[in-house]
Amino acid sequence: MNTLPDLYKQNMEHQLKDDYQNYLACFDNPRVYGLRVNTLKISVKDFLAINPFNLTPIPWTKDGFYYTDKDQPSKHPYYYAGLYYLQEPSAMLPAEVLPIEENDIVLDACAAPGGKSTKLACKLNNTGSLFSNDISVSRCQALLKNIENFGIKNSYVISNNINRLVDYFPNYFDKILIDAPCSGEGMFRKEPSLIKSWTEKGNEYYAPIQKQILDDAIKMLKDGGKLVYSTCTFSEKEDEEVIEYILDKYPSLKVLPINMCQGFTNGLTANTKNCVRLYPHKIKGEGHFVCLLQKGVCNKPKETSKQIVQCKEPFIQQTKMVFNKGKFVQRDNRLYFEPNVNVDLKGLRILRSGLLLGEYKHDKFEPSISLALALKKEEYNNIINFNLDDLRVYKYLKCETLDVKDKHVEGYVLVCVDNYPLGFGLVKKGILKNKYPANYRYQ
Ligand SMILES: C[S@@+](CC[C@H](N)C(=O)[O-])C[C@H]1O[C@@H](n2cnc3c(N)ncnc32)[C@H](O)[C@@H]1O
Repeated sequence: MNTLPDLYKQNMEHQLKDDYQNYLACFDNPRVYGLRVNTLKISVKDFLAINPFNLTPIPWTKDGFYYTDKDQPSKHPYYYAGLYYLQEPSAMLPAEVLPIEENDIVLDACAAPGGKSTKLACKLNNTGSLFSNDISVSRCQALLKNIENFGIKNSYVISNNINRLVDYFPNYFDKILIDAPCSGEGMFRKEPSLIKSWTEKGNEYYAPIQKQILDDAIKMLKDGGKLVYSTCTFSEKEDEEVIEYILDKYPSLKVLPINMCQGFTNGLTANTKNCVRLYPHKIKGEGHFVCLLQKGVCNKPKETSKQIVQCKEPFIQQTKMVFNKGKFVQRDNRLYFEPNVNVDLKGLRILRSGLLLGEYKHDKFEPSISLALALKKEEYNNIINFNLDDLRVYKYLKCETLDVKDKHVEGYVLVCVDNYPLGFGLVKKGILKNKYPANYRYQ
């Protein structure tokens, strides 16, 4: 690869030694593509039964699959129904490794566009709470959409520099994911444009930022809590040296082992040998570094009881949706379900606080797209289901008005494809007025 900077090549040769030529050779291999099933909406088994793509399993995660470049999963109605997320296969490892338990309070500190947050939410299974944060408001728009598309009920999307969060959440989270901003060396094959930024910023730029981010995160982790630090770079300065720095600063931290799959490589120093390095010439995926840390020991048992709460709004009452441990809050004309947090969030930039259920317009409740995407077919009794081969699926996703006289329904309907909800519509005399939002429209 002639376009790789000389300094980068020297570093990699020094790191990989005899394996360096194999690394260079893999730039000629085609890139691989990954899809992860949204287990909040469909089990892996059920998805495989309706799967229209050429899938093969990704070894390090049960819900992840390679697809081929002939598949077009981003154009499929199942994508719009939120049945899966498209994610580079190696990027599936960090959230897989974080041992989330139901009812955990979780922070994804550098979350946009949300690949890892969507997986963390699947593990939480709509219990506990998930805070997905990213400093960039513009990147948070994609994060927000992915959270809505996945039908996640128990999440906050916030946009702040992580250092702003420390005063609000000292020793607060059971689990934290830091997918740190980095020089992106591991993505050079997939996104050669990153090479330019590497050349401009050099190899020293990110390490101090990463150390600060990790330091802030440790302050927000409970005793006994676990944290994953990951990057998509091979740089020891941004990987092992950052971990060495934090171990030195907080002696109660331990690096926990990660399940090794074929082709995984250990961290490069004695203290970091439990970390995992992914190299594109050793596994089917791009480059990554993953470290699982634990802070001290846990001395308080976690509250695990379930507590179902009821909503007073008649539209929500007539659904069979279950809301666990949270509250219903009306702000202006909007109604939300919010997970319990017991923290005053005033002063933080909040883009989503829980699930937006709907809006009051002229005293009438209009259910939201996020409610539609969080509902299961059996939780709502006024359904229009289209089979995948019905062209009205695409017309609906393109926000068109539909003739649905054959369906014999009236009023607010939940429009589904193969029984998976897409959004709402309002039917009068067999004509469906489309309520699918323009910014979700099929492209
Ligand atoms: C590697 S990307 C995260 C990708 C994401 N975890 C995913 O799986 O889709 C790193 C992110 O860190 C964010 N970031 C950088 N500095 C930050 C800071 N000080 N606080 C919070 N987020 C930060 C960037 O905006 C960027 O979106």
